[in-house]
Amino acid sequence: MITAAKLLEHAHQAAAFAHCPYSHFAVGAATLWEDGSITTGTNVENAASPLAVCAERNAIATAVGLGHRRLCMVAVWADVPDVVTPCGGCRQVMLEFAPPDLAELKVVMGGRGETRIRTLAELLPESFRTY
Ligand code: THU
Repeated sequence: MITAAKLLEHAHQAAAFAHCPYSHFAVGAATLWEDGSITTGTNVENAASPLAVCAERNAIATAVGLGHRRLCMVAVWADVPDVVTPCGGCRQVMLEFAPPDLAELKVVMGGRGETRIRTLAELLPESFRTY
């Protein structure tokens, strides 16, 4: 099984491909799925600014389009002094593909500071569910 450090490396590498000419804030994400597959993503901005898509959501959407449904781990990286943390919208999208016990989904956050690992249960308490 891939380590948190390795998945974060994938996220770091992905950040190099970010399309962020408006914010100049490059983010990379990597996602690990139940069968061991990894997908990566970057933020993709647009001249029409609300159309920007976060790195985490792109990594997740790529995997979902390949048939994956159950997330095991997410890593996100940006060149910030501490670590980058996923936005609220991305936390909600992670929830959609999370295991029933949100404490099992690890979110690895990186930057120039010390890597931080939290679970989705910690990052999205009392989350919305329709069941
Ligand atoms: N961004 C992400 O890629 N992930 C997040 O969790 C938060 C924000 C991107 C969106 C935008 O391209 C840039 O960071 C600045 O907000």
